[in-house]
Amino acid sequence: MKTRILFLCMALLSLVAYGQDLSPIKLPAPDKAGGMPLMKALTERKSSRAFAASEIKPQDLSTLLWAANGINREDGKRTAPSAMDRRDVDVYALLPAGAYLYDPKAHTLNPVAKGDFRNLAASGQDFAATAPVVLLLVSDLTRFTPTPNDGTKLTGALDVGIVSQNISLACASLGLGTVPRGTMNQTELRKALQLKDTQYLGLNHPVGNLK
Ligand SMILES: Cc1cc2nc3c(=O)[nH]c(=O)nc-3n(C[C@H](O)[C@H](O)[C@H](O)COP(=O)(O)O)c2cc1C
Repeated sequence: MKTRILFLCMALLSLVAYGQDLSPIKLPAPDKAGGMPLMKALTERKSSRAFAASEIKPQDLSTLLWAANGINREDGKRTAPSAMDRRDVDVYALLPAGAYLYDPKAHTLNPVAKGDFRNLAASGQDFAATAPVVLLLVSDLTRFTPTPNDGTKLTGALDVGIVSQNISLACASLGLGTVPRGTMNQTELRKALQLKDTQYLGLNHPVGNLK
């Protein structure tokens, strides 16, 4: 009996540890009419490695996530193209309270794990842990059937790169700072987010207001 109670307590604790006591964050509607013309955004695009201490406005986070890989057509297709329209790239957001997964249909951030994992993304580049949000780009290779192999990993990496450029241009347009990064503690991040071997963690983007 005692063992059962202990087991139940441990199960409950692990649920709490994995984000079950964080609530989903319903984002406001993205501002699809704002920002600057594309040519101006291309002129402004650059890598930024210093961020102001201030939070990102919910409106900016909403518009940024939509621009990254949100739905831009009635049939559910995305702002970023993907090989064979497999929509394989998932965007995770590391916020101070926890890690969240962007759901483009509900335009909501769903909790994945409680805790601040931005330092795992920084992995020695300390500036990245000071960004109020770090976005992670993960290609789910199982969406390429029949079997994920080295070829599909390359395709996933290409799709990740396109989402990354959407983020860089959207940040330029919104006056936010970002940098695409391959540096990160892959092992610990994968554990924290409970990623499967078939999920390719390609790039991260610290995002913040410019200093
Ligand atoms: C695939 C990829 C990986 C990158 N990884 C890092 C990184 O780990 N850390 C970093 O500070 N910058 C990283 N960068 C940013 C580049 O250093 C940067 O784009 C380059 O110096 C050119 O500067 P610009 O973006 O301002 O034009 C990466 C860029 C790309 C495209």
